[in-house]
Amino acid sequence: MRGILLAGGSGTRLLPLTTINSKQLLPVYDKPLVYYPLSVLMLAGMREILIITSNLHHDSFRALLGDGSHLGLDIRYAYQNEPRGIAEALLIGRDFAGDEDVCLILGDNIFYGHGLPAILREAASTVDGCTVFGYPVSDPERYGVAVLDQEGRLTDIQEKPAAPSSNLAVTGLYLYSNDVLGHVEKISPSGRGELEITDVNRLLIKEDRARLVQLGRGVAWLDAGTHDSLLEASQYVQVLQKRQGLQIACLEETAFRMGYISMGQLGKLADRLSAGSEYGRHVRSLVRV
Ligand code: G1P
Repeated sequence: MRGILLAGGSGTRLLPLTTINSKQLLPVYDKPLVYYPLSVLMLAGMREILIITSNLHHDSFRALLGDGSHLGLDIRYAYQNEPRGIAEALLIGRDFAGDEDVCLILGDNIFYGHGLPAILREAASTVDGCTVFGYPVSDPERYGVAVLDQEGRLTDIQEKPAAPSSNLAVTGLYLYSNDVLGHVEKISPSGRGELEITDVNRLLIKEDRARLVQLGRGVAWLDAGTHDSLLEASQYVQVLQKRQGLQIACLEETAFRMGYISMGQLGKLADRLSAGSEYGRHVRSLVRV
């Protein structure tokens, strides 16, 4: 399975913060937002990752993450110049995917929790059609919302409904088997002029090839698409990191723990990070000589 991280879009809901900055490069407490979804792909076992950016911010992403080889990854880049919708990422990433299945994650979605890597790896190894992840929220009208039948099976997804039929938001993390990537070509732009990922998923529901995995209390899901949610995400990361003395979405640590880089390589990365930051000190503390 290969990973696609969508970091395009114009970030209009975050203006003026996004006048010159990419939304996905804004800070969430002590690191750029993109670190969080990237670490999720890494924890799910993906090493080949396509990052889709807007043309304007391409150089910044490349300066930050390069080709990923220092993390044992193969990171490639593509552009989405106009915000033509999340589903377009599957079209842009078609060649990159080759014959492989795809895990698509939105660059402003943060997932954190014990057990999440195992859930993702299990879901990734069994995907047939699409798998979406549901998460209970108090404001479902802001999201795609899962509609379930009496047996808890997914029967529909409503995109930002005024009167949601459940409190189960569909998160910005999607798994697709290779043979359904072309489904994007069967949908038309929505009222907001975008190719909606929800429309692709609804097609797959109709074909009985969609599965919903519910993420429970053990997992936190935050999005950072508004000023309030961006601030709340920072506060969440700050509280947990300070309390536990751990780091959330430390890419160097994730690469090492996943076996993508050796202790020697981790040591070299630690040398390059300033000991003046908590992040740098944390990476150093992992190195055993
Ligand atoms: C998108 C999807 C929506 C999903 C959300 C998750 O919304 O369309 O179904 O629940 O991401 O972050 P958007 O960010 O485009 O408003």
